[in-house]
Amino acid sequence: MQILETPRLILREFRTEDVDALALVLSDREAMRFYPEPFDRSGVEEWIGRNLRRYAKNGHGLWAMVLKENGELIGDCGLTVQEVDGASEIEIGYHVRRDHWGQSLATEAARACRDFGFARLPVERLISLIRPENLASRRVAEKNGMTIWKEVIRVGLPHLVYSIRKDQTAAR
Ligand SMILES: CC(C)(COP(=O)(O)OP(=O)(O)OC[C@H]1O[C@@H](n2cnc3c(N)ncnc32)[C@H](O)[C@@H]1OP(=O)(O)O)[C@@H](O)C(=O)NCCC(=O)NCCS
Repeated sequence: MQILETPRLILREFRTEDVDALALVLSDREAMRFYPEPFDRSGVEEWIGRNLRRYAKNGHGLWAMVLKENGELIGDCGLTVQEVDGASEIEIGYHVRRDHWGQSLATEAARACRDFGFARLPVERLISLIRPENLASRRVAEKNGMTIWKEVIRVGLPHLVYSIRKDQTAAR
């Protein structure tokens, strides 16, 4: 099911047969250097399964990022529920295949997810959880209008919590 369209991208729900294309993103050692380790094939299958369950339970999750010009799946971007300091927050997350970095594709998708979140979900705030060393991801959050809210420890590692409030989006 198609969820969002931007000038260059379609965001649609993942399907089980996306595993090979998504593995090119999530099994890439360089792209996953801020994760405990790259995902192997079964990890990618579980990733897709987790998002199918999120669609069923929450109506959203990480969606497949597809290039309109050739129909290729080149990443993911979407909205997931995350527990932060005991509260439920909605996170904008993104991963792009390395050969497409630096073309503002993550920013284009993240902005569409931000606008979707504030238009369709009963939330006043959206967040992105980012390792401090992940400068590219931090820059995407900034270009998405977010600022650092606080720092938390997740899976034993410091993470910055970037956030934006709904009333901050009017001018963007
Ligand atoms: C983070 C990620 C999604 C960004 O995707 P992208 O499509 O290249 O992002 P954009 O082109 O929209 O923006 C990237 C910005 O980061 C900047 N950037 C990239 N590498 C950087 C670095 N090492 N230091 C500082 N800035 C950096 C780019 O210059 C660009 O900013 P600019 O437009 O002001 O020049 C991509 O690098 C990725 O998939 N990383 C691996 C997965 C990941 O870490 N996801 C986030 C988890 S929190």
